[in-house]
Amino acid sequence: MKQKLTILVGTMTGTAQLVAEEIEAHLSEKAIDVSTKLMDDLDHSIFAAGGYFIICTSTYGQGDVPDNAQMLLESLKTTKPDLSNVTYGLFGLGDSTYTETFGFGGKNFDLILSQLGAVRVGDYKLHDANSNSLPEDEALIWIEEWIGLVGKELQ
Ligand SMILES: Cc1cc2nc3c(=O)[nH]c(=O)nc-3n(C[C@H](O)[C@H](O)[C@H](O)COP(=O)(O)O)c2cc1C
Repeated sequence: MKQKLTILVGTMTGTAQLVAEEIEAHLSEKAIDVSTKLMDDLDHSIFAAGGYFIICTSTYGQGDVPDNAQMLLESLKTTKPDLSNVTYGLFGLGDSTYTETFGFGGKNFDLILSQLGAVRVGDYKLHDANSNSLPEDEALIWIEEWIGLVGKELQ
């Protein structure tokens, strides 16, 4: 049976949300069953049924996840659910002028998800706001590769 894909968005000023919406629109055209959720008010139970996820999050503070992603990250750290039935991809947003913490929001999620047994497909991708490329352009290239790696489950 065709699986669905959920994009979880951590954002402060909306860039990651825009990226997620572009990914969703692109995948919907390919008849992939995809939905986007802001991380606000989510906890570990979002992963309870397993399945396919994209984490799309920026970085704030000193390498922290955005405010709307804090509860989900903390809930994973304290509850420590078994996520071995979760498959994910990661698109992070950051700014390399923050040399010590570039992209750490995404990296924080990558670390905890892998510690809990979730399987990342492909490399994680970081967009650098201190570059000339648009995050949504990079995201569409990245998601094409990602979908190719996931294979038929979503198509
Ligand atoms: C106050 C502030 C702090 C930030 N801290 C970091 C950081 O520590 N590391 C990093 O890579 N990017 C950092 N960024 C850059 C953002 O993650 C980047 O601009 C991102 O594209 C914003 O996405 P959003 O609109 O979805 O929140 C910071 C930006 C601001 C405004």
